[in-house]
Amino acid sequence: MDLAKIREAADRLLKSQALVVLTGAGVSKESGVPTFRDALDGLWTQYDPQQLATPEAFEADPKLVWDWYEHRRELVSKVKPNTGHYAIAQLEDMLPHITVITQNIDGLHQAAGSTDVIALHGNIHHHKCSADCQGEPTLIEVSKLEWDHAGGPPPCPYCGAWVRPDVVWFNERLPVEALERANKLSSQADVMLVVGTAGAVQPAASMPYRAKRYNGAFLIDINPDEDTITPIADLYIDGPSGEVLPAIIDAMRSR
Ligand code: OAD
Repeated sequence: MDLAKIREAADRLLKSQALVVLTGAGVSKESGVPTFRDALDGLWTQYDPQQLATPEAFEADPKLVWDWYEHRRELVSKVKPNTGHYAIAQLEDMLPHITVITQNIDGLHQAAGSTDVIALHGNIHHHKCSADCQGEPTLIEVSKLEWDHAGGPPPCPYCGAWVRPDVVWFNERLPVEALERANKLSSQADVMLVVGTAGAVQPAASMPYRAKRYNGAFLIDINPDEDTITPIADLYIDGPSGEVLPAIIDAMRSR
């Protein structure tokens, strides 16, 4: 790990007044979060994600899609935040303002203690009415519902439509409020810390460009491999976030 880069990142973060952290699946890698593909194991190997993670698939077979997400949720529930998640959460005690914008649906930033997290692609631990009958999103506390689990998802207690996972499926638009706030904060960031994303999925991948273009933000990219953001980053640190982020926190504390 390049200590000069770690120290520069620490100095930049210590000076930040409006920090945005943008994360992707890489920040959860060291927690062993099963990838989309990992969850296509056992009896699920016969399916293609497109058959399981789309509104059309849910419409056609709510029980199949519900049961697969329950399977994924159980897999995700077994993993814990890693040192990278905890380092990001510690930034809150050290800096005036930090928001985490994540593409991950595993809830690990929140579990690690981050208090301002925009989950652009939803959260696998949350559920909502598939008709959003009380407004977008109509979140439903499934643990309080009684229903025949063998039949698949529960009916919405308000309108009877199927309850579904509160995650973004292929061909679906992102939650409007989350996206609007993420875009706004990205445009106002003075430093953006990009961690563990290939930068291949829109609109998340456009946020570093937005930060640079609208506010001349200083971009720090942390990834063992180069990604689409690396070419516009002011500082690229090639390493696993579970090691790099704690090193940056240590350098911030010793400045
Ligand atoms: P990807 O799986 O596309 O990219 C993960 C990135 O993490 C890669 O660039 C890896 O090099 C990097 N990486 C791997 N190990 C790492 C580590 N220990 N520390 C830091 N980085 C590491 O995941 P995302 O860019 O997040 O969308 O894109 C995933 C999105 O695409 C998901 O949110 C999903 C999918 O379509 C939706 O569900 C809507």
